[in-house]
Amino acid sequence: MTATLTRPPMSAAEFFAGRSFIQASAPGRVNLLGEHTDYNDGFMLPIATPQRTTVSMAVVSAPGYRFHSATLGSEAAFGAGEDAPSGFARYIFGCIRLLEARGVAVPPLQVHVDSNVPLGTGLSSSAALEVATLRALRRLLAVELDDVALALLAQQAEIAYAGVNCGVMDQMASSLADEVSMLFLDARTLATKLLPLPDAAEIIVIDSGVARKLETSKYNERRAECERAASMLGVPALRDVADIKAVEALPEPIRQRARHVVTENWRVLEAAGGVDAARFGQLMSASHASLRDDYQVSVNALDTLVDMLCAEDGVHGARLTGAGFGGACVALCRKGSAAAIGGKVVERFNAGGGSAGLLLPNSAIQ
Ligand code: ADP
Ligand code: GAL
Repeated sequence: MTATLTRPPMSAAEFFAGRSFIQASAPGRVNLLGEHTDYNDGFMLPIATPQRTTVSMAVVSAPGYRFHSATLGSEAAFGAGEDAPSGFARYIFGCIRLLEARGVAVPPLQVHVDSNVPLGTGLSSSAALEVATLRALRRLLAVELDDVALALLAQQAEIAYAGVNCGVMDQMASSLADEVSMLFLDARTLATKLLPLPDAAEIIVIDSGVARKLETSKYNERRAECERAASMLGVPALRDVADIKAVEALPEPIRQRARHVVTENWRVLEAAGGVDAARFGQLMSASHASLRDDYQVSVNALDTLVDMLCAEDGVHGARLTGAGFGGACVALCRKGSAAAIGGKVVERFNAGGGSAGLLLPNSAIQ
């Protein structure tokens, strides 16, 4: 029977106790621009985090699976024919089942997970877990799977096994982005291009400390609103809106939702065309205003952090990153100033009763 148990965290070497194992890793992501555009067939510019999730695997003889997360201090064990488990194991299990559905014979396995991607802050630790798991399975079983196909399988694992009706950005970013470039992504064609960050700029990422409440229900509500807007406008997706005047004629709140998506795609296309750091920052701040006022997915803590960041000399612009409803924000600032500005803003925010945390730059990994 499936059981998820609390276990003292073990290293991979301890967990596999002398048996050989293979290892693969994948990063989280920070989206710099292009929020809530992926499920509208639109454009976005995520970057990979230096924080990564590492998945180690060994084939065993006894049927079934045993998964250990050193990050959570948690372990799940279940038999070969059992249903998808709950908790962290379902992400790994989902990847295995989806590969089996493609005809890959997956043997009994032991899987060890470790990560320094922060969990549940909007940096896509779940996508990092899925992509690292599929990379490990690809290597272990010599499966032919390119990085885009791998990202799509990872997205399916999230939708079908974690029950999150997400777009394609997080898994594509984890699979294809690197930590020094922005990944320009077209969610319709899945075309990607690595672009340099604006000159002499670097990023700050701050966790607001506010858990992402209502995320799933509100996320699904926004998706439905966008679909309604597209159908009222007679286009396959909001990506195809050519004339903003048609959007202005829509009823509230569909009008605001569609306006965010259409203008957000414009911002991404302008930024991807090559702008300096000052203009990139303006586009980020405009994105935040649009997410706050039109898409209505911000919360007070994120608005306050964004304002505090933007008030700092050296910050070009800031916005919430990820789905919103809590989670993290990102700022673009003058190169060399991120650690000092990020530290100062977190300290001031927390002095006012907040519980923010600096996620990037992270002195432990950079
Ligand atoms: P995000 O992807 O933004 O971090 P989610 O709530 O979508 O937030 O995913 C977080 C979940 O992913 C965790 O609750 C856990 O189930 C799973 N997860 C991610 N990383 C790990 C890990 N290193 N070990 C175990 N579970 C993980
Ligand atoms: C994430 C979701 C992504 C994307 C994003 C908003 O939570 O997984 O697919 O839609 O929200 O841009």
